[in-house]
Amino acid sequence: MTSFGFGRELVERAEGAWIWTRGGRRILDFTGGVGVLNHGHNHPRILAARERFQQARRMEVHKTYFSPYVAALGHNLAQLLPGDLTMSFFPNSGAEAVEGAVKLAYKYHGGRRQRILRADIAFHGKLLGSGALTGAHDHSFRFPGIPGVVTYSYGDLESVRAAVASARTPGGGCDVYAILVEPFSASTMRWCSEEFLRGLRELCDAHDIVLVFDEIYTGWGKTGSLFYFMRHAGLIPDVLTTSKSFGGGKSSISAYIAREPVFRKAYDNLTDSLLHSTSTTYYGFGEETATAIEAVNIAVEDDYPRRAREIERVLAPGLERVRKEYPDTVAAVRGAGALYGIFLDGGPKILDLAARLAPVGIARDPNFRVKLITCAVIDALYRDHGIYAYYTLNGDNPLVAAPPLVVEPADVEYFLDGLAATLAQGLPRLLTRFVREKVAPRWPSGS
Ligand SMILES: Cc1ncc(COP(=O)(O)O)c(C=O)c1O
Repeated sequence: MTSFGFGRELVERAEGAWIWTRGGRRILDFTGGVGVLNHGHNHPRILAARERFQQARRMEVHKTYFSPYVAALGHNLAQLLPGDLTMSFFPNSGAEAVEGAVKLAYKYHGGRRQRILRADIAFHGKLLGSGALTGAHDHSFRFPGIPGVVTYSYGDLESVRAAVASARTPGGGCDVYAILVEPFSASTMRWCSEEFLRGLRELCDAHDIVLVFDEIYTGWGKTGSLFYFMRHAGLIPDVLTTSKSFGGGKSSISAYIAREPVFRKAYDNLTDSLLHSTSTTYYGFGEETATAIEAVNIAVEDDYPRRAREIERVLAPGLERVRKEYPDTVAAVRGAGALYGIFLDGGPKILDLAARLAPVGIARDPNFRVKLITCAVIDALYRDHGIYAYYTLNGDNPLVAAPPLVVEPADVEYFLDGLAATLAQGLPRLLTRFVREKVAPRWPSGS
């Protein structure tokens, strides 16, 4: 991170889409907190909700007391989500929500089914279980994971059908207990067609497989609908996972929300009710939960899906203009709502330059050229224009434009102008400057 300007600066304060550094710079946050900051930094209503909670000396740790906050949050989610998605569980991170959903699906089948399907480009977290379900993770080290993971090709219904057909129990029944999918993959900027998602639903119905939609990143309006899947009327997963902006940028909270019959079959009896219980250390902390209640209220009352669509109306054509202006550098632009990927590349000439500039080990990474170009652009955006952006470590490593949903249209224009001005410098100059100023001084000469 010290290769980038922002890795070497301290922040004084942050509000909305803006960050003020200790050095006195004002920075436009186009990372959107990597999904966490739909509400922007320090949203006044989120701060007020927390202050109210504190001033009234509300109880934080409930344990076996009934928590009105957990109850209200679960109730509100049940009101907002379609169908009988009514049973919520609130751990603290996305990976925990995914693993809770997977445990639920396994228990739903009483341990009689052993396979779980995940996409080849999936990102579901980095714990042992969720890491094993993450398709395109870093292969530099192998940890043990959960057994029975089968990979299908994202968006390809035939490959899912084939995986289900070939997974049979010794008695000849279906051996798949769950299918996991990100309806919109924020790490690759790819998304599933309606036909694919409805096809999955039918397949899961036909074989009684638990269908899990992972919308940990894409929830709360980011792509232009409350959750990505909700743009398709009547489409309902068995379990939905969410996190990130669910906590309003202040609270570390996640959720899985299950269809009632699925949840009840898995856990609704005295013997099994504590198998995935609420006695975890930080489960249902009062202020965290009250914060999430307010975060959801804001997303609904301020119509965050509409805000994302308004951002898209400026961002999408603007990025398209930049792509047309720099066709040799911008290979593609792809996304939805306030979540866009800019896929940078620079052709074989740049490969030569990149290889000359890079240390030998790093240059062997097949995506090295793209990563180097993208990093150089991110660095120049920050240094020259005070724009803070990131790139994804999955897929083709796009530079991500994902502003908080409270950003002004003029700020989106500012980002677009900054991007165009940066690319106008030309890749050789950007690369040389990035490498010379940030990395080269720390390498032995001649490398
Ligand atoms: C789609 C998706 N699933 C799961 C996770 C894991 O969440 P966490 O990092 O909170 O464990 C993420 C995090 O980026 C995500 O984007």
